Amino acid sequence: MLLSGALNTFAPQLRNTMSVKRPSDSLTTMTQLVMPNDTNILGKLFGGQLLHWMDVVGALAASKHCRHVAVTAAANNISFKEPIELGETVTLVAKVVRSFNTSMEVYIEVFAEKLTEGISRKCNDAYFTYVALDDNKRPTKVPDLQPLTSDEQELFDKSLIRKQLKLLMAKKIKLSQAPELQQQIKKWETEV
Ligand SMILES: CC(C)(COP(=O)(O)OP(=O)(O)OC[C@H]1O[C@@H](n2cnc3c(N)ncnc32)[C@H](O)[C@@H]1OP(=O)(O)O)[C@@H](O)C(=O)NCCC(=O)NCCS
Repeated sequence: MLLSGALNTFAPQLRNTMSVKRPSDSLTTMTQLVMPNDTNILGKLFGGQLLHWMDVVGALAASKHCRHVAVTAAANNISFKEPIELGETVTLVAKVVRSFNTSMEVYIEVFAEKLTEGISRKCNDAYFTYVALDDNKRPTKVPDLQPLTSDEQELFDKSLIRKQLKLLMAKKIKLSQAPELQQQIKKWETEV
């Protein structure tokens, strides 16, 4: 997802790019109604449509964190655990969980609700990575992120391993360049 236009018009003084941010500073919520055009012939929401909404809400959260255009660099493996039905609402909640140099990891949760019943259920979650671009469309430094709660700290700590895994899968690094991931793999081996 490439967010441009309005964001590019931010005055530099409004960007406040380098102060330390909290996860809550980027918290972004988006609600959609599942319409007939969004569904397959069984009346269930298309996976691709959900990915589109996830990418939009994730890009908004990333841009809130860095006050730059944010482009999608990667998403983790996403599985569709529960179908979402025609006529239900889908609420997507996104926040930056860790920032690196020019990239940010955004955690996105998806909740579905039948409005007439008012019971919300979690259907999905995912981690998307976005890169901040400057006015020349080159990756640019993003503000640091300070986790405050223990949940935020846990998401922050595990983010480095997810980043290394994504870079390894994209063949951008070798396993020998990812010591934290190597340690995690050893832990996984002992857990099996
Ligand atoms: C994302 C993009 C800007 C990265 O550009 P690049 O020249 O590879 O830049 P770099 O190698 O310096 O990487 C920039 C950052 O992205 C991160 N990154 C790049 N690929 C990544 C991946 N697959 N997974 C996780 N992070 C990744 C790098 O680790 C780096 O992060 P850091 O600066 O915080 O350490 C570039 O690949 C791009 O424009 N991709 C297309 C984006 C797009 O159009 N998305 C919509 C999909 S259709």
